[in-house]
Amino acid sequence: MVSGGARAVERCRALGRAPFSDMEGGLYRGWLSPAHRASVAQVAAWMEEAGMATRVDGAGNLVGRYAGSADGPPLIIASHIDSVRDGGFYDGPLGVMLGIECVSALHGTGRRTPFPIEVIAFGDEEGSRFAAAMLTSKAAAGLLDSVPAMADASGIPLSQALGEWGLSPDTLLAARHPGALAYLEAHIEQGPVLEAEALALGVVTGIAAQLRHEVVVQGLAGHAGTSAMPLRRDALAGAAEMILGIEALARADGSDLVATVGRIEAAPGAANVIAGHVRFTIDVRAGEAARRDRAAAAILAELAAIAARRGLGLEHRLIHDLPPSPCDPVLMDRLEAALVAAGHRAYRLVSGAGHDAMNLAHLCPTAMLFIRCRDGVSHNPAEHVEPADAQEALAVMLGFIDNLGASCA
Ligand code: GLV
Ligand code: MN
Ligand code: MN
Repeated sequence: MVSGGARAVERCRALGRAPFSDMEGGLYRGWLSPAHRASVAQVAAWMEEAGMATRVDGAGNLVGRYAGSADGPPLIIASHIDSVRDGGFYDGPLGVMLGIECVSALHGTGRRTPFPIEVIAFGDEEGSRFAAAMLTSKAAAGLLDSVPAMADASGIPLSQALGEWGLSPDTLLAARHPGALAYLEAHIEQGPVLEAEALALGVVTGIAAQLRHEVVVQGLAGHAGTSAMPLRRDALAGAAEMILGIEALARADGSDLVATVGRIEAAPGAANVIAGHVRFTIDVRAGEAARRDRAAAAILAELAAIAARRGLGLEHRLIHDLPPSPCDPVLMDRLEAALVAAGHRAYRLVSGAGHDAMNLAHLCPTAMLFIRCRDGVSHNPAEHVEPADAQEALAVMLGFIDNLGASCA
């Protein structure tokens, strides 16, 4: 019989193809997309088979509920089911599938915990379709007080995408979860540390601060054959200099600071036309918000200097801002106790990647369990997790649930 951990891995792989992916030959599952809708239906069926009642909240999050022996605030076990473009199978869904396996194990032996358990599949951790990220866990944590006006790459406004699901900006704003006892998220590490330590699992101490800007560079479109080089106001050449400037600033910092330009569009986009308009994103992260903010300020000053020197227009807007998110010390100890009881070496590490836990920390204490992934590769179709490691994670999660139950007795 296949283990719960192996089944969780298998299900992540099953979600990697049509109709659960909207990308030919790879995985892309954007928030509120057809692939997301098909995945919600499939994951809901798995949740129901595991003994949960399911619903979709006002943000499009799928919530599965397993009643406890007593009512009260639930333990939330969650992660996300959206993906980056051409992403891997496990970044996000593995935490949801392992949550389902926890409930399946309890239900299979007729056990009820002294609190309800809710397994949530969030829909927008990645900023997978619209520029702002983590809107659905922000909504669940009650952190959204307005809905940004945004359109996806095809120009479809967020309000229309919500409407196609029978949702609206108002339902998104009202999707606040009533409260929780604790939050547990299992996630692939997305880095090489556990593998280098020859460890399957680690306890996360906290998540780095992150922010994103959208930058617009305005130049002058013109004929590629007739415009003399000194007379050009080339928005794409200017953006290229800006991107190298961003990289140089982050490299020179020498700390855990990282800065990335991962998306760029140039218009009008023809071989014989000088680009008149460029839009790109900047993602800046560091363990400390102050270091991140100093770097972001230096980057924006550098961009302004380059734009001025080249006679380009420059606009930028903050589209995403999350402070660092420490995990709860008591829950970290509980998770570590479960890890050690399952025969693992205690090991703690910080997360450079963002997670929905950053938002849920505003609702209740949070804990995160990292699972080794091959070569630390993530946001890449080559992402790989060993089923045996997922099974170890499942055992530790069940131990954590037992510890939490004992603390409620
Ligand atoms: C999510 O994967 C992020 O860290 O951006
Ligand atoms: Mn990701
Ligand atoms: Mn993720």
